[in-house]
Amino acid sequence: MIDFKLIVQSENARAGEFHTAHGKITTPVFMPVGTQATVKALTPEELKEVGAQIILGNTYHLYLRPGTEIVGRFEGLHRFMHWERPILTDSGGFQVFSLAKLRKLTEKGYQFQSHIDGSRHLFTPEKSIEVQICLNSDIIMCLDQCLEYPATHEQAVEALELTTRWAQRCKEYWEAETGGLNHLFGIVQGGMFTDLRQRSAEEIMGIDFPGYAIGGLSVGEPKELMMEMAAHTLPLLPADRPRYIMGVGTPEDLVELVDLGADMFDCVMPTRNARNGQLFTERGTINICNARFREDEGPVDTSCSCYTCRHYSRAYLRHLYTAREILAYRLNTIHNVHYYVNLVKEMREAILAGRFDRFKKAFYSKRQ
Ligand code: GUN
Ligand code: ZN
Repeated sequence: MIDFKLIVQSENARAGEFHTAHGKITTPVFMPVGTQATVKALTPEELKEVGAQIILGNTYHLYLRPGTEIVGRFEGLHRFMHWERPILTDSGGFQVFSLAKLRKLTEKGYQFQSHIDGSRHLFTPEKSIEVQICLNSDIIMCLDQCLEYPATHEQAVEALELTTRWAQRCKEYWEAETGGLNHLFGIVQGGMFTDLRQRSAEEIMGIDFPGYAIGGLSVGEPKELMMEMAAHTLPLLPADRPRYIMGVGTPEDLVELVDLGADMFDCVMPTRNARNGQLFTERGTINICNARFREDEGPVDTSCSCYTCRHYSRAYLRHLYTAREILAYRLNTIHNVHYYVNLVKEMREAILAGRFDRFKKAFYSKRQ
């Protein structure tokens, strides 16, 4: 039982909590992305210090390398990577679509060739769940078909129907194979069509999952369309289960989506952008390579309490980045992940205190 408790709801924004085999998660929550059993540039101790409650791993990558045989010897990812807090794994569908070569989609699953060595694989809904159970992930995701943008209504219907049939197969395999320790989440698809989002939500909810994700967003569509789909779909989902928006987004997106009733997020932005020198601050993003920081003795963000901001100046971070020093990637990532984790933490505190509206106004007024 996931036992999701809604602690406070103010308008649509929710503060909640639920349990996993590796501990409690308070929501809203941001999950840093750790595709290859590592959140790039950070140790698990550093992740804990910035307050990460749960991280995300990728079934597609870990299945191909190092493989379930190796991770299985460690009884799963937690001991393998020395992270004892919860882990969510994505099912692989989305990654096969964006990374694998010569992929072919059939009723059975995804046939593809590895982007690493060209080896051939068949990824079925059952295989995806089997691998995720072997990784001993706390939250496992159904294999789904994420549609590219733009797509026709007809294509979106096909993807939605396949996603429902696969969700049913995932649920059956999961019920037979796990003692309920790994929570299985269903994924709502439906492209950029409100009627199909509704139909997908109804079909996926009909199968009944411990939690629900909204997929197929942030795939190249205009921001307003993404928000319209989320705003349409979120209220359809049951109030007593966590709601996860996959692969989104900017700090503004997170604030808007929490306001619409979303509970969980993952995104590569804080980690990837850190490695490109883009840092998040309460006044907006800055690029640390900018010449205006050459002599700047202040921290990245005066309101930030992270390790990087406590000890280093913008001038030093600019120097490290310009010199392509390894420490630049580490310090930038510590700051950005702290920023995201802290943003959702502040939203939670605001919801609990009944002042989310004021939080949101202040969030926008500080940005330039
Ligand atoms: N990550 C971002 N979007 C998606 C999606 O639609 N499906 C899956 N499985 N993962 C995602
Ligand atoms: Zn900082």
